[in-house]
Amino acid sequence: MTKTKVLVTGGTGYIGAHTVVELENAGYEAVIVDNFSNSSRDVLDGIARIIGRNPLFFEADCADYESFARVFELCPDISAAIHFAAYKAVGESVEKPLDYYRNNLVSLLNLIDLMGRNERGSIVFSSSCTVYGQPERENLPVNETSPLQPATSPYGNTKRVSEEILRDCTISYKGKINVIALRYFNPIGAHPSALIGELPRGVPQNLLPYITQTAAGLRERLNVFGNDYNTPDGSCIRDYIYVCDLAKAHVSALDRLLDKSPEIPGGIEYYNLGTGVGISVLQMLELFKKATGVAVPYRIVERRPGDVEQVWADPSKANIELGWKADTPIEEVLASAWRWEKKIRGI
Ligand code: NAD
Ligand code: WQD
Repeated sequence: MTKTKVLVTGGTGYIGAHTVVELENAGYEAVIVDNFSNSSRDVLDGIARIIGRNPLFFEADCADYESFARVFELCPDISAAIHFAAYKAVGESVEKPLDYYRNNLVSLLNLIDLMGRNERGSIVFSSSCTVYGQPERENLPVNETSPLQPATSPYGNTKRVSEEILRDCTISYKGKINVIALRYFNPIGAHPSALIGELPRGVPQNLLPYITQTAAGLRERLNVFGNDYNTPDGSCIRDYIYVCDLAKAHVSALDRLLDKSPEIPGGIEYYNLGTGVGISVLQMLELFKKATGVAVPYRIVERRPGDVEQVWADPSKANIELGWKADTPIEEVLASAWRWEKKIRGI
């Protein structure tokens, strides 16, 4: 039986690669497009070893219309798309706003154009909880009706603007373009096989890769960015979600889009993808020690500009409407990250 082909842009990236694995597990056939601007060809080997075959792959820049269009010529039976391809470093986006707006928005515009031309307008979009900024205390945990805040970085604004572009297109091309926007909280961890995982370039900006690199001896200590916040232990609180649980949510979103049995109101729906549990930075250090036996050295330093104090999800809409729940225990997630770090460092 012919499998449903799903385009996965940015599919050799951290979340994309894990999603390709879950798509294949669910009986879909992934068609990966990536330009390796923030990943490497080795990821394809890792995916192949997990799924037992080489996935369909095209090296192309989604922001280059001609090169992206060729994928659709070569693969005319793509039924839907999951759009991961984007630059995602908040700090870098402040230094290079044009690169971020051009890459992230032109890639999306090209995708919508190409998917819409062939009446294949089912799109799952990678959005981010960054659109909520710092919710008011009374709005925590944050749900999909919580007010969106002005972006605090060009990167965050590309997510905000992308959602608006998609909303406008679902209205103008009603019935031709259907979208589910998934607002991720903080994805962490690696596939249980340790064959794929997060590969930050240079000094990690995100918490968990910095913790695992410190545990591996690559970094002297973790700098905890502030312990004077208005939280129980003074450090910032986030909703850390296992990347494999996050990947599974994309399959559920795709099922919903392709099933089309529930009319998607207005052509676009939004889902918060989190665990519903907030964990502080200092708690993460304790949990990492409990999960791995490694006590990571740290020191408290100044707050990082732009950090929100506390944000975590109310995932009940995704739990109910997607039939999906992030339920991997945090200790298992942290152990997966440590296994991956040890694997890539040959420890
Ligand atoms: P990643 O950088 O690991 O993966 C993105 C992939 O897209 C990379 O492989 C990169 O080479 C590719 N890419 C970028 N621009 C491209 C282009 N023009 N053409 C083709 N390929 C291109 O990032 P990730 O962590 O896997 O994030 C995936 C998506 O999820 C991004 O859209 C990101 O904004 C979003 N997101 C990530 C997080 C997070 O914490 N990781 C949180 C919220 C949202
Ligand atoms: C988590 C917590 C830091 C590193 C970012 C982007 C967001 C999304 C996810 C793309 C914070 C603290 C971190 C360190 C620390 N990416 N920390 N020392 O900032 O919640 O979200 O990644 O969409 O858009 O903003 O994640 O992992 O950077 O930080 O103390 O060396 O860990 O202050 O409280 P964040 P993070």
